[in-house]
Amino acid sequence: MSTQVPETVEEESATEAASAGKQKRDAKKRERAERVQEQREAEAAEKARSADDTYHLKVFRYDPEVPEKQEPRFDDFHVPYKQGMTILDALMWARDHYDSSLTFRHSCRQAICGSDALFVNGSQRLGCKTQLSDLSEPIRVEPLPHSDVVKDLVVDMEHFYDQMESVEPYFQTNSLPDGELDEQRQTRENREKVKMSTRCIWCSACMSSCNIAAGDNEYLGPAAINKAYRFAMDEREGEDMKQRRLEILEQEHGVWRCQTQFSCTEVCPKDIPLTEHIQELKREAIKNNLKFW
Ligand code: SF4
Ligand code: FES
Repeated sequence: MSTQVPETVEEESATEAASAGKQKRDAKKRERAERVQEQREAEAAEKARSADDTYHLKVFRYDPEVPEKQEPRFDDFHVPYKQGMTILDALMWARDHYDSSLTFRHSCRQAICGSDALFVNGSQRLGCKTQLSDLSEPIRVEPLPHSDVVKDLVVDMEHFYDQMESVEPYFQTNSLPDGELDEQRQTRENREKVKMSTRCIWCSACMSSCNIAAGDNEYLGPAAINKAYRFAMDEREGEDMKQRRLEILEQEHGVWRCQTQFSCTEVCPKDIPLTEHIQELKREAIKNNLKFW
């Protein structure tokens, strides 16, 4: 700073003007610095806010029809969270905002159609029933294990449907009521007995979780056996048909393959006591003096 004393009026007013200009510049500098600081704080707050409200998904990707996507990989998606959001909601958001080629099955979005069973954080779950908030991050989303992957999260269900079909999953009886419109009634107790087995939605989560099914492609699997249970235990089918169903079930790759590991029961989204049903059918097979392997 100059310490020189102005000798004339002109010099004095020039010094005052210089000092005012400097103050102005300093004030502008201060303002600019404050603005930058405010902006930095706003950005940091936004970053923190979005980190809290965003879920990190690692999603399995594979597409045999596109050369550069034939090597399986995981893609990262950061999805903004809304209360009540499920894995299926997050996948739909990722597909709609990041990558329209992301492929997965879904339909009802209320745990009824069974089409969106996935392998999430190492366990079979329905995408539409699984809350993001119940999972630890990063959330790993993969197709169901033990099935061929068609694309991304979609697996080939053909083998599962074949196994279900092999137990003849429909009602069969020799004795129909006399009147054409008469109901074929079932006792309340019998209804209670088969009630849980009727809840299957053919999602294949149980089959995918089963070590035995993974090693034995011909094993009927928990879902098909449960389906057979549903009819074998229905009093309206009669003894003849029950015998026939037990013959299907006691074949080499039937109930006796089950090693009571309970993995199917653990993952079933409809809480069907699958292992219990398989054990009961084993007892029925013995009672009926059928051979077992
Ligand atoms: S038994 Fe349960 S897990 Fe298996 S297909 Fe049916 S609903 Fe899915
Ligand atoms: S979308 Fe139907 S069961 Fe999940």
